[in-house]
Amino acid sequence: MTSSHLPAADPCTLVIFGASGDLTRRLLVPALRNLRESRLLPDQFAVVGFSRSAPAIDDLPAFRHVHGAFDDAAAWARLKDEVVERMHAVGSQNLLFYLATAPEQFLNICERLAEVQLLSESDNGWRRVIVEKPFGTDLRTARQLNQRLTAVMREEQIFRIDHYLGKETVQNIVVFRFGNGIFEPIWNRRYVDHVQITVAETLGVEMRGEYYDQTGALRDMVPNHLFQLLTLSAMEPPSALDAGALHAEQVKVLEAIEPLAASDCGTTTVRGQYAAGQVDDATVRGYRDEPKVDAASTTETFAAFRIAVDNWRWAGVPFYLRTGKRLRGKKSEVAIHFRQPPLALFRQASMAPPEPNQLVISIQPEEVIKLKIAAKVPGPELTASPVDLRFNYADYFGVEPQTGYETLLYDAMTGDRSLFKRADVVEAGWGVVDPIVTAWAAGSCTLETYQAGSDGPDAAAQLLTRDGRRWRPL
Ligand SMILES: NC(=O)c1ccc[n+]([C@@H]2O[C@H](COP(=O)([O-])OP(=O)(O)OC[C@H]3O[C@@H](n4cnc5c(N)ncnc54)[C@H](OP(=O)(O)O)[C@@H]3O)[C@@H](O)[C@H]2O)c1
Repeated sequence: MTSSHLPAADPCTLVIFGASGDLTRRLLVPALRNLRESRLLPDQFAVVGFSRSAPAIDDLPAFRHVHGAFDDAAAWARLKDEVVERMHAVGSQNLLFYLATAPEQFLNICERLAEVQLLSESDNGWRRVIVEKPFGTDLRTARQLNQRLTAVMREEQIFRIDHYLGKETVQNIVVFRFGNGIFEPIWNRRYVDHVQITVAETLGVEMRGEYYDQTGALRDMVPNHLFQLLTLSAMEPPSALDAGALHAEQVKVLEAIEPLAASDCGTTTVRGQYAAGQVDDATVRGYRDEPKVDAASTTETFAAFRIAVDNWRWAGVPFYLRTGKRLRGKKSEVAIHFRQPPLALFRQASMAPPEPNQLVISIQPEEVIKLKIAAKVPGPELTASPVDLRFNYADYFGVEPQTGYETLLYDAMTGDRSLFKRADVVEAGWGVVDPIVTAWAAGSCTLETYQAGSDGPDAAAQLLTRDGRRWRPL
């Protein structure tokens, strides 16, 4: 994040719940340092941490720590005193609370904050709460959490994180789609054959076995990461580039998705779990042998499915989504596959028909935009070969070392909500995923096994071959 034309954020005190945790140490503290170096932190700024054990944060300016447990009234009284003292020292009533804790604690902490009257805003200061993901585990729990959070503060005070796509990437997609006149006219059912969205990882569950085994690939990745890619690539142009307009368009895409009938789940969805295999030349264990994973677990580590976005732009265009762990490659991308041009000309020339055009927006491992076109292979023979027109952001603009949390913290301090999820976006995402979760739980879709380091289960390939298509390679 460059500081060249951005002002420093509003004066405020940041309160981190879970100050001794992994997220704070690995991501939040380095992000605060980067913001300070970029002169984006205000001069009037303080940080208060809260956790049972002491954090190892010694080089943050004006850092104070309050020891205590979330259910300890005396600790809350100490926290309030410390926060009030910091507000006076900073000279501002603005308070930003960061819930860097397990999701089960979110509600409890917010209700306590309301009880000790740290959430009430006044003309002299805003109060904002950053809530980490996951936000609920299904539509019912997400709704319940939203209702209970909005009982103690306004929706505008809640900043729900979905940090998978940085602000840069979101803006890159929006600028690419709507800042270039040549793509938008063909971005619809008349020219697009189908769309593929992939978020593939080579990593396994690492140290997250306990959480992951209760969650699975579908709930861990789809309502947030995959749907963010889906909505940005399928939405209508927003009426403005602000958070409200963007969220309104994203919700419309999710609401236009045809609900999956339980009876179709066997043919339109695929669930898989990795077995031992080779990833990047290393032998890796199977999912059931991972630490803190049930040895007989039936949790999926791979999910793929076909959905229909049933609106004017996309009627009849299938969207294929897949995500999984321990796959052949690390890749996050959206690929727009265009329709085949008429082939009569090539039949006469007895050459193999050229492949249809593909436009690929790649986010990982590199931010690249590729347009696959057909070109004649030089020589006396008339043959065509697919070639890429390729634009890599790093080649043109360079990249800065960032944790991704710099923008999130800066945006929360300046009140820009475009990267944070509104309640209805979260609920609409769960609304699509819930029927699949339910159908899978009822046993309507066999759990396939795939070898670590492969492209996923064979059934995922069949999901496309049945429709006469194939996945892009991983
Ligand atoms: N770590 C990541 O890379 C990452 C990435 C994305 C999202 N997240 C999300 O960020 C959140 C935090 O994850 P994490 O990995 O940092 O978890 P973590 O390492 O387990 O940290 C949890 C923090 O909460 C504190 N805590 C737990 N119970 C407490 C209690 N009863 N009273 C007071 N403090 C308590 C812990 O401190 P004490 O034990 O010292 O009290 C610790 O500081 C989760 O929602 C996670 O999903 C994490």
